[in-house]
Amino acid sequence: MYGIFGAPIEHSLSPLIHNIAFKALEMNCVYLPFHVEPDNLAAAVGAIRGLGMGGVNVTIPYKEAVLPYLDRVEGDALVTGSVNTIVNQDGFLSGYSTDGEGLLLSLEKEAGFHPQGKKVVLIGAGGASRAVAFTLLREGIAALTIVNRTLKRAKALAEIIRERAGFKAYCLDNGDPALKDLATQADLVINATSVGMAPRTEEKPLYPLIESKGDCLVCDLIYRPLETAFLQEAKQHGLRTLNGLGMLLYQGILAFKLWTGLQPPEKPMRLVLEGFMEKSCETSLRNSIDDEKQEKMDGPRNKQEDV
Ligand code: ATR
Repeated sequence: MYGIFGAPIEHSLSPLIHNIAFKALEMNCVYLPFHVEPDNLAAAVGAIRGLGMGGVNVTIPYKEAVLPYLDRVEGDALVTGSVNTIVNQDGFLSGYSTDGEGLLLSLEKEAGFHPQGKKVVLIGAGGASRAVAFTLLREGIAALTIVNRTLKRAKALAEIIRERAGFKAYCLDNGDPALKDLATQADLVINATSVGMAPRTEEKPLYPLIESKGDCLVCDLIYRPLETAFLQEAKQHGLRTLNGLGMLLYQGILAFKLWTGLQPPEKPMRLVLEGFMEKSCETSLRNSIDDEKQEKMDGPRNKQEDV
């Protein structure tokens, strides 16, 4: 038995990809979502041992909080202080992070982008940015600028990067006029904030995409919706884009390998994700048409309610 711990957890797509992989490999295994309340985190981690689970994924808000309950922390998770995968070997729990490496595989396999020597702009200074920053630095990027609404947080991340990787990252707040110049030089721009995520799909990070050079790759870690307003704008400017579905897929593939030692079948995992996203896109379109019809039918009543 495998699973994922988080809160909320009902929207997680990880059960889809892992269960299809177990099925394709004819493995007698199951992957379940577990909603874990903060007070129950220690007990939930204990249950990995108690129930003899092979391992779990960990998602928001426990990627950092879970560390004290593990026997060992490995690889990227050591540097980032964030764990998304726990492996159980005879009751000994090891924590890993496959998020950064997942993005790297997505960049390389889906966009043919190799970070070495490239200039990168990272929008956001939270946990997602941190995971991505350390992986890109390890790949030998030439420059990193962290752009964040709260400059203090960008500086805090830059300080961690300086301490742990010996690299000087630049920081700007998202209203800084120097962003224009920065944009003309960037090879890769990554939105690692939640801005533009459903249901607030009309929002986008403050960044002058219009100034970007023609071969700049614009990446959004968000996959709901598949094409954020930020990526739409990038396309309008003729820029190449990459959404967050690949990172989700590859971080899962890497976790599966850690648990089982096997390479899971990428194609069915990707198809199940894409199929689900298409279906949920159709459903939300249908819902919005229904809402509109409903609004036309009882508009005055709704308007009054709004007031
Ligand atoms: P995660 O661990 O998923 O990265 P987080 O630690 O809450 O989540 O970080 C979210 C990031 O999105 C932060 O960089 C946050 O900016 P602040 O540091 O200023 O809070 C950014 N973010 C969230 N909502 C935002 C908004 N409406 N406008 C601009 N940035 C936003």
